[in-house]
Amino acid sequence: MNRIFSGMQPTRLLHLGNYLGALRNWVALQDQYECIFCVVDLHALTLPQDAPTLTKNIRAVAAAYIAAGIDPDRNLIYNQSAVSGHSELAWIFSCHTPMGWLNRMTQFKEKAGKQKDMAALGLYAYPVLMAADILLYKATHVPVGEDQKQHLELARDIAGAFNRFYEKDVFPLPEPQILGEATRVMSLRDGTKKMSKSDESDYSRINLTDDADAIALKIRKAKTDPEPLPATLEELAKRAEADNLVTIYAALENISKQDALSRHAGATFSAFKADLCDLAVAKLSPITDKMNQLLGDPAELDRILRKGADKANEIAARTMAEVKDIVGL
Ligand code: ADP
Ligand code: NA
Repeated sequence: MNRIFSGMQPTRLLHLGNYLGALRNWVALQDQYECIFCVVDLHALTLPQDAPTLTKNIRAVAAAYIAAGIDPDRNLIYNQSAVSGHSELAWIFSCHTPMGWLNRMTQFKEKAGKQKDMAALGLYAYPVLMAADILLYKATHVPVGEDQKQHLELARDIAGAFNRFYEKDVFPLPEPQILGEATRVMSLRDGTKKMSKSDESDYSRINLTDDADAIALKIRKAKTDPEPLPATLEELAKRAEADNLVTIYAALENISKQDALSRHAGATFSAFKADLCDLAVAKLSPITDKMNQLLGDPAELDRILRKGADKANEIAARTMAEVKDIVGL
């Protein structure tokens, strides 16, 4: 049986990049796979968080999953911290993971900042927890963006090392799930940086909770150049910010970039941005409305998460019983 595991960190609110690059693709996967979509709150703790904000963001990420179209009755949606198996398995894996493997992880180097010795042990061990997330459910496929490929490779190495050490075929080696043409959305303020939750500028990203006015303002303020839109993708590729806005338009409208460009070739940015704004509002407002409706009833949202956690726990408990038996605990 093919099983998908994926998750997003509840650090800040989800944005258009998370939606077009990941969430929207997850919605399509639910028809072909048994899917587990986790709100990876333990991962969020690897960087400093404000407790009440974290609590709010956990619900907001769960609401975004459901509002984007993931059906909580057909898929598991729950909080990582509600299933203790994630932490338990991460510890056992950490005792089977050479430090040298973690020393190679490039994301730690990026996120640790200049004072590496002051970075938390959890930030360093993050990929081990990610391996536990996936393998706890014996997931066979993991949808990954470019930034997570190295971590999935490590999860495969850990699974292999565990299986070899105990001479048992406990864990399948999870395969990366290649998602069609993965859309990479860049910052609205700098076409060379990806749109990210961790960007300091609010104008760099459109959040899934933004209303029509906020979306309009951010698109109006998006960095561009003075030239009208070109006719060819080749010309467009030389202009990072223009390229990004056309990419967003094409993704929202579900058409090719060339078609999106052909529709607007020769247009000024004020005209193109007005079109893009209408499109973004039309596509995102149903999601925003549904999110707000879900967030308006936190007790119901918590009930959905609790139900997901109970089902996840059933699978996790089976794996943990098997693992503990094999390890001798
Ligand atoms: P962020 O960088 O905003 O913190 P995460 O690392 O939590 O985002 O990523 C969650 C998911 O969203 C991942 O699958 C990631 O590949 C995807 N994602 C994040 N930012 C973008 C982006 N700018 N464009 C496309 N996909 C993205
Ligand atoms: Na990231």
